Amino acid sequence: MYMTSAEIREAFLEFFRTKGHQLVSSSSLVPHDDPTLLFTNAGMNQFKDVFLGKEQRSYVRAASSQRCVRAGGKHNDLENVGYTARHHTFFEMLGNFSFGDYFKKEAINYAWEFLTEVAKLPKERLLVTVYETDDEAFQIWNEQIGVPADRIVRIGDKSPEKKFESDNFWQMGDTGPCGPCTEIFYDHGEHIWGGPPGSPEEDGDRFIEIWNVVFMQFNRQADGTMDPLPNPSVDTGMGLERIAAILQGVHSNYEIDIFQTLIKHAAQIIGTEDLESKSLRVIADHIRSCAFLIADGVMPSNEGRGYVLRRIIRRAVRHGNKLGAKGAFFNRLVPVLANEMGAAFDELKSQIPVIEKVLKVEEEQFARTLDRGLQILDDALVELEGTQIPGELVFKLYDTYGFPADLTADIARERELTIDQEGFDREMEAQRKRAQSASSFDKDYNADLNVQHCSEFVGYDKLNDNTKVVSLFTKSGETIERLQAGQEGIVVLDHTPFYAESGGQKGDIGSLRMNDGAFAVTDTQKSGNAVVHHGYVEFGEIYVGEELTADVDERYRKTTALNHSATHLLHATLRQVLGEHVQQKGSLVGPDRLRFDFSHFESLSIGTLQQIEHIVNQQIRRNNPVQTNVMNIEDAKRSGAMALFGEKYDDDVRVVSMGEFSTELCGGTHVERTGDIGFFKIISEAGIAAGVRRIEAQTGQAAIDMMHSLGNQMSEMSSLVKGDTHSIADRVRQTVDRMRSLEKEVEQLKAELAKHKGASLTDSVVEINGIKVLVNQLDGADPKSLRGMVDDLKNRLGSGIVVLGVPGDNKVSLIVGVTKDLTSKVKAGELVNMVAQQVGGKGGGRPDMAQAGGSDTAALPDALASVNEWLSERL
Ligand code: ALA
Repeated sequence: MYMTSAEIREAFLEFFRTKGHQLVSSSSLVPHDDPTLLFTNAGMNQFKDVFLGKEQRSYVRAASSQRCVRAGGKHNDLENVGYTARHHTFFEMLGNFSFGDYFKKEAINYAWEFLTEVAKLPKERLLVTVYETDDEAFQIWNEQIGVPADRIVRIGDKSPEKKFESDNFWQMGDTGPCGPCTEIFYDHGEHIWGGPPGSPEEDGDRFIEIWNVVFMQFNRQADGTMDPLPNPSVDTGMGLERIAAILQGVHSNYEIDIFQTLIKHAAQIIGTEDLESKSLRVIADHIRSCAFLIADGVMPSNEGRGYVLRRIIRRAVRHGNKLGAKGAFFNRLVPVLANEMGAAFDELKSQIPVIEKVLKVEEEQFARTLDRGLQILDDALVELEGTQIPGELVFKLYDTYGFPADLTADIARERELTIDQEGFDREMEAQRKRAQSASSFDKDYNADLNVQHCSEFVGYDKLNDNTKVVSLFTKSGETIERLQAGQEGIVVLDHTPFYAESGGQKGDIGSLRMNDGAFAVTDTQKSGNAVVHHGYVEFGEIYVGEELTADVDERYRKTTALNHSATHLLHATLRQVLGEHVQQKGSLVGPDRLRFDFSHFESLSIGTLQQIEHIVNQQIRRNNPVQTNVMNIEDAKRSGAMALFGEKYDDDVRVVSMGEFSTELCGGTHVERTGDIGFFKIISEAGIAAGVRRIEAQTGQAAIDMMHSLGNQMSEMSSLVKGDTHSIADRVRQTVDRMRSLEKEVEQLKAELAKHKGASLTDSVVEINGIKVLVNQLDGADPKSLRGMVDDLKNRLGSGIVVLGVPGDNKVSLIVGVTKDLTSKVKAGELVNMVAQQVGGKGGGRPDMAQAGGSDTAALPDALASVNEWLSERL
């Protein structure tokens, strides 16, 4: 039964909706708050904490179509893409999930029902695998579903030493939820080479895995131990592109609707006709990962996620170049992709211009690096000994200049050279290891605390509360019972009014007051679900179980709230003034100022910045109440609340609204009415990355103080230029004009002076063998006037030789003039060079006029004194 990709996605979600599953939107490709993961690589990622029992949701069954990237990290397919029928950097994973609700029986039944009754796949084309020891799954398939035993393959561990390393034991990463799985395969038919899973021919393309049903049972620890999960759960994943290939009657994923459209357009843009080209497949694949990664806030860079993105873009561009693409072509596929997938992924549709811009900038930069790489290669080839280009050089070109090894090999071939492929592979392998370790990002300084507590935050409407110490840690994170006066440490409280840093808002500061002691809180962060208070014991001591009063610093919190609320107004204003493409890319809200990063591709004019300030201040004066409501995430999104792409939200979210003007999902703390913000003033606006701009601003008293300080400077300036604050610009302009005309006058006077000096200089002319010679050191003269001076002196002498030296700050200027009649005897260039060498320089020039410089001012008198002797030998 033919179905388009969009129809399959819809049918899948609808099927599971009718089976009582909550439909959940795809989460960002940038995993939220999960340092173990480079990119979202499976539908279950966003539910990781639910599987682990650390997080509760209002539902126990869910289904989603999750965008995934597998490039870098544990599941990495990048190098295979384009050369097989089924590897992608980006794909969509359809999945259904049970969190401690149904288990093996239902999971298997649902999958079978969907495949055979909704998608109407012929049963005899399906076969399944189970984990070797999973008799239960085997029985369900065999006895309840009726799959014959010879079509159920048991797959064990790869070797006895490598326990759980099996195609039928799925692990999210080196740590995290995992469990045995059962996989459903589709037989594409005898005409394609390959054997069933577990057979020696399993790598062929005949039997293709379409659906993986994982029975989540363990949480794998870093040391390999398997802790049982609180509730056995289900996680499934079916590649949308694979099932689409089957339902569209094609063998390769690249022949399905989405890819065909992309391939056709890519061919058109590049100007090639060969639609079967592997390079077109690479480009069609890569535009999907690149566009979605940028939409999710990743920017090309030299490390971590940005580095992987950069490599994918460059791989695509190179394949384009192979096909003869001229100029930046890759970005032009963005609208085509948005057309294909935008309906299902709003985040793509709303950011088309930004994505195009980022790709274009990167493509152009890469074109320049390719040119540079070619130059480096050419230079290196000149010095090459032998006929093989060393692996390190091939790698350096690849890595530093983005110059692909196979391109280097092509060029080598043209010159009858080879490349050291092995050496290159070694370097690549080392780099792969580095990239892998890039997937474990810097952790929070408290991420490793052993704390399971879930601290309730009670600080939305009060700043102090009585509570109790649940656990204590030393500064470096070891559990401890007591902290003494002067000791630094970390405190976990039962519940707390302290806001832990998140959503860009800095953590609160304040103090914990005990009966006989106090703990100064210098920062508040999160560790898992616990709020952790960093600081030190001011006096007395603090111990586990102690009751205390937690007191948030009111000024700190309130000034932070002004900036946070103003950030929401700024966000809404930017979208109104600049357009809907504006997305928040980051923010930092503290007590002294706010910082807001957003997607936009050009700098903002002063007029635009003023307009933005004007609108924000207008909203402040409207004095709308700031309202917060807790509601279901889907309802919130429907109500038009701005959500951040890349942010993971709970089912119930806090929606903060300021009149009709701004509605945002936000867990932060805010003012009561917009009027509390008082005043908003932008301090700076600048670009921080391709397509990303940053505004910094102040509010309230801080903004007023800043205006006062500006005012003071103005008054001081006006008194300096003897004007008032209204006429100051005119007065400054007049002063500058006057300064310029005075400078001109000074120049003229200097030239005049030099002439006079020249006249008096002729007094010191000596004769050597009847020829007039003038040698002089001119202290304080302007080197620029020397040429004029020498011309003048030559005229005065009629026939003769002039040598002048001017000492400056660590530099010496020299000039020599020889009248034409004498140039056959003495060359100005030689003479100036003779002198210059003695002052640490060298020079030269025409026979009648030559200049030079040097650095040794102290040597100048002697150097000049040597001229007469030198000349007397020649004249
Ligand atoms: N999480 C499982 C997979 O990615 C379903 O294959």
